[in-house]
Amino acid sequence: MPLTRIVILDFRNIKACDIELSTGFNFLIGENGSGKTSVLEAIYLLGHGRSFKSALTGRIITHGMAELFVHGRFLTPDQIELPIGINKRRDGSTEVKIGGQQGQKLAQLAQVLPLQLIHPEGFELLTDGPKARRAYIDWGVFHTENRFFDAWGRFKRLNKQRNALLKTARDYRELSYWDQELAILAEQIDQWRADYIAQLIAVAEPICQQFLPEFDVQMRYYRGWDKDTPYQDLLANNFERDVVLGYTVSGPNKADLRIKVAGTPVEDVLSRGQLKLLVCALRVAQGQHLTAQTGKQCVYLIDDFASELDSQRRKRLADCLIETGAQVFVSSITESQVADMYGDNYKMFHVEHGTIESM
Ligand SMILES: Nc1ncnc2c1ncn2[C@@H]1O[C@H](COP(=O)(O)OP(=O)(O)O)[C@@H](O)[C@H]1O
Ligand SMILES: [Mg+2]
Repeated sequence: MPLTRIVILDFRNIKACDIELSTGFNFLIGENGSGKTSVLEAIYLLGHGRSFKSALTGRIITHGMAELFVHGRFLTPDQIELPIGINKRRDGSTEVKIGGQQGQKLAQLAQVLPLQLIHPEGFELLTDGPKARRAYIDWGVFHTENRFFDAWGRFKRLNKQRNALLKTARDYRELSYWDQELAILAEQIDQWRADYIAQLIAVAEPICQQFLPEFDVQMRYYRGWDKDTPYQDLLANNFERDVVLGYTVSGPNKADLRIKVAGTPVEDVLSRGQLKLLVCALRVAQGQHLTAQTGKQCVYLIDDFASELDSQRRKRLADCLIETGAQVFVSSITESQVADMYGDNYKMFHVEHGTIESM
């Protein structure tokens, strides 16, 4: 849901910033080190409760300050403006306020502000291990299935307990009782993910075609264990192996989205530039699907990325985003690098030494 205003206090090199935003495109223009990424990082913090660059709160609070604040106002799908805010202190404590109510959970921030980050290192989604792709799948499931968050949390807790029990268990009967609930959760989570991916593929395929017309990209969901075996049977069958290794080897915590071109993993076929375009297409697809399914709009944070695309592709990306009606933040060193992205609804901001001013 779009932000109409953002206030950032003591966040990296930003002492104080208070800007009215466009619900369409917001361009942040400034030199290296001026604070463009920090603005995107602050918005990301508001939607995730953490930074995309640093796990340590101490790193993002301005040197010498005790705490940071990021506040904003967002528009609900029925066009009501509500406040949202996060405050973090050096001891790691966090306070979240939404719609004037204190003590809200981080997951509620994510509900209000579905974010997609597109940045130059983003192709790790395709080249690294399955963890990032699971996060990609689960972003979509989280936003479209409201029972997912609790079920996944419960699954992770039970799985951890099971791994602890495996260290001492001598007979599968010691685990079978626990495995019943674990199996119900695993099958449910798998079903949600499979349904989501099936829907997403239908949206993503034509977008991938637009971005990479020379390739036929195929996506296939892998649930984390073999497709013909019920999870509870699998746990029983694998008991001895799991005991030897000291943890549960297969399951929804091993799920993946396998992305290939002509049967070969994309990272072995596509150039770095093409991988970046594919990531872009996948992120745009998720946003389009979210809006179609829930009426919620996603906020896109595009850091230093537009400048890496040629003019035609930059324009295509902007057109796709305009079509979804999403709010977009684009950082760039020069105005000319984003000039192909201007639509009807945009604002430009100049960033210099941590000061952000509307141009
Ligand atoms: N905790 C902090 N306190 C103060 N300044 C910081 C802190 N962390 C980073 N910085 C500085 O803030 C600036 C952040 O720049 P950044 O947002 O990455 O710029 P850009 O994206 O425009 O290149 C850098 O100059 C960096 O040295
Ligand atoms: Mg930057």
